Amino acid sequence: MSQEPDLADRVDHYGELTRSLLDSGALTTDWSEAFDAVPRAAFLPDLAWPHDMDTGTDRAVDRRTDPEDWERAVYANVPITTQWDDGKHSGSEPGRVPTSSASMPSVVTRMLADLAVFPDARVLEIGTGTGWNAGLLSARLGDRCVVTVEVDETVAVSARAALARLGLRPKVVCGDGGEGHPDEAPYDRVIVTAGVRQLPAAWLEQTRPGGLIVAPWGTHYSDEDALVRLTVADDGSASGPFLRPLEFMKLRAQRLDWRRFGNHVGEYPGDAAETETSVSLSDLGEDRRFLGPKFVLGLCVPDCAHVVNSGEDSSTVWFFDMTEGSRSWASVVFRTGARPATVHQSGPRKLWDEVSGALEWWRERGSPGLGSFGLTVLPDGTHRPWLAEPDHPVPSFAG
Ligand SMILES: C[S@@+](CC[C@H](N)C(=O)[O-])C[C@H]1O[C@@H](n2cnc3c(N)ncnc32)[C@H](O)[C@@H]1O
Repeated sequence: MSQEPDLADRVDHYGELTRSLLDSGALTTDWSEAFDAVPRAAFLPDLAWPHDMDTGTDRAVDRRTDPEDWERAVYANVPITTQWDDGKHSGSEPGRVPTSSASMPSVVTRMLADLAVFPDARVLEIGTGTGWNAGLLSARLGDRCVVTVEVDETVAVSARAALARLGLRPKVVCGDGGEGHPDEAPYDRVIVTAGVRQLPAAWLEQTRPGGLIVAPWGTHYSDEDALVRLTVADDGSASGPFLRPLEFMKLRAQRLDWRRFGNHVGEYPGDAAETETSVSLSDLGEDRRFLGPKFVLGLCVPDCAHVVNSGEDSSTVWFFDMTEGSRSWASVVFRTGARPATVHQSGPRKLWDEVSGALEWWRERGSPGLGSFGLTVLPDGTHRPWLAEPDHPVPSFAG
């Protein structure tokens, strides 16, 4: 008897993914040919961790033990972690911090559409990861048009091998993408597939005037990013709108190290000033991802990290000043079903006053969504977020 699988019964997972991306508009027809030629599965290792978007958890799939489960997972519209803890992790249990991944297919294809490439456009990608995105770019534009930079040598080597198996040979550089890749500059397009808190001057310098930089950007207020599309001007500055929220693992040197706040709060509440607030957790946008004021609070309250510790009957929101040498902090305790919440503030920066002032400013303007904001980056690295127009900078509430 034949041991061959019955191919007629096989589910065409890639076909299903392609159709759903086309139907939703995430995959534009100009990218279809490259998408068909460069299947995502060709870039994924046997052991990988698809993210469950509903529960926020990760589970292992292993092609060697369950090929059908693996294939279903790699063609689902979810991000898949391929490396934990900068490679210092082994085994099939998820690690602590995901440090390399194949991004969610709809995010990949939408970003490629945002990049607005044209024949012979020269593209620099930061964050090679699995190599899938670089493969799509190479298939569309040709190998000589694509340079991709990956900080992790093991990841870069695997990506190069996966690309070569499909006959694709873009230039895969192992190095710090924050420096770009001056040897092949100038570029018409820069696409960044890691979250950024400070856009490096090198990317502006290496993009030709009129060229585009597409990057997930945000502040340390939150891990959430917003995709920004900047057009580089003749004077070397770059400016453009935020397009939509998303979240990427951060550029290695720009991760927030929470350990830095270990000694921030001495005795609690110590001599911190105590007040009350009628603001709720929901007013702060803490009951949902991506929507609400969180992104804007980060724009208006610079150098402020925040975290929510949720308990059974109450949640405490902590705010920490990130300014070098400062230990200002604030906390707000929200008790379930009870108002007002209790505020403590310590140090020269009154972080809660800044956050609540920024919230009021945002509400007075009709709670504008992320798409109403934009960013200008000057050649000296200064970042100026704006509302509606580049000459309407958002105010800073830093005291
Ligand atoms: C979300 S993954 C990229 C996904 C990838 N484009 C793909 O198609 O699979 C982010 C990658 O950025 C890399 N990375 C982080 N910091 C970097 C840096 N400073 N320079 C270059 N790559 C970096 C990580 O190692 C990781 O592989």
